[in-house]
Amino acid sequence: MELPFIEPYKIKMVESVYTSTRDQREKWISEAHFNMFNLKSEQVTIDLLTDSGTGAMSDRQWSALMLGDESYAGASSYYNLKNAIAEITGFKYFLPTHQGRAAENVLFSTIVKEGDIVPGNSHFDTTKGHIEFRKAIPVDCTVDIASDLTALDPFKGNVDLEKLENVLKENPREKIACIIVTITNNTAGGQPVSMSNLKGTRMLADKYGVMFFLDSARFAENAWFIKTREEGYANKTIREIALEMFSYADGMTMSAKKDAIVNMGGFIGFRDDETFRKASSYNIIYEGFITYGGMSGRDMNALAQGLYEGTDYDYLSSRIGQIDYLGSKMKEYGIPVLEPFGGHAIFIDSKRFFPQIPDEEFPAQALAVEIYIEGGVRGTEIGALMADRDPVTRENRFSGKELVRLAVPRRVYTDNHMDYVAATVKNVYDRKESIKRGLKIVSEAPILRHFTVELERL
Ligand code: F0G
Repeated sequence: MELPFIEPYKIKMVESVYTSTRDQREKWISEAHFNMFNLKSEQVTIDLLTDSGTGAMSDRQWSALMLGDESYAGASSYYNLKNAIAEITGFKYFLPTHQGRAAENVLFSTIVKEGDIVPGNSHFDTTKGHIEFRKAIPVDCTVDIASDLTALDPFKGNVDLEKLENVLKENPREKIACIIVTITNNTAGGQPVSMSNLKGTRMLADKYGVMFFLDSARFAENAWFIKTREEGYANKTIREIALEMFSYADGMTMSAKKDAIVNMGGFIGFRDDETFRKASSYNIIYEGFITYGGMSGRDMNALAQGLYEGTDYDYLSSRIGQIDYLGSKMKEYGIPVLEPFGGHAIFIDSKRFFPQIPDEEFPAQALAVEIYIEGGVRGTEIGALMADRDPVTRENRFSGKELVRLAVPRRVYTDNHMDYVAATVKNVYDRKESIKRGLKIVSEAPILRHFTVELERL
């Protein structure tokens, strides 16, 4: 008998899971104004709100914390991180920041000005927020097939190079702040970007003389997909693939809370020292001196170690395998899910789940609420609430895509927990016709509204 593939780690410390009754959850979600971000963690049984900062650190990362050097300038922890970044990404210069959006803030303060255009694949909401906040325009050039939620294309995160070239052709070069490609493409469902697409993006960046940055929150998962799906990469290591991916970019932003498996942290990587120098001033103003940015020495140490662990092939296989396990189970139950399954999350298509609820009533949020009430499983809406209003017309941006994301933290839950999640969603699916209406907004912020929005049941 062939031995099964196992997680390449065992558990040394455990944390209790909270249970509750359906009546309690009905009360709590109503008190939370039907916003998942307002729930207390004790009110949640399985927390799939995000895979960001929620991973379990290893014994080696915890030991690295103890060796943290808290010197204000030139700490050994800074050099540990600098070496790890150089080894894994190839970027010689870097600036530590407290998380991914802080890296965006520093980078965009340096290179984005009012009226600029920032094309790429789907920009994550904080990336979009930072661009729009500067009165610049993010242009989504993702391939059309990404909007077909069931098309089995291996690289649905890709940039449509023709769309990108049109944007570059139609605008003066000085208006293009940079191209940003997000790996994996979170907004499109945790879908990977192929190596040949990154190469093509580089060629266009060179042709039009613009900079190209990678939003690398899930770069290791992207590399795993390249290894397992793209011709010519099966025999390369994850680190070789990562180095090649980064070799096509001028720099990167990184929310280290994902693939580097730390609870807080981020950085910006640069190839040339000119942009690095300019960005350093903003880093000092917004984050901290350039050898610690927004991080303590111990956190930089844990992050350096996490970069190595997060690029281990066996770890990635078990991680992405668990997402596949959850997705396959839900599919077996007939639940409409986005395919192929993403690297960090399963996305449920609420339009097919609740065809009776119109976009104006936020069907994905309504589904997230029902899943919470059913089993205390917390997911998040990726739909019109998250998309914010159009900054000019102030209209809701209904794209027809209304998803519930169940993002799985790294090294935290077992497959048994995944069975519980799938059963929870199945129970809602069995009573889907009984839910006739969605939700309406009672109050909202002008930007990044989904974090604080208050809703009411219709
Ligand atoms: N880029 C991507 C692709 C992201 O997914 C995130 C965060 C960020 C940038 C911002 O990083 O949170 O460290 O400031 N994504 C989280 C999520 C919040 O749930 O997908 P951050």
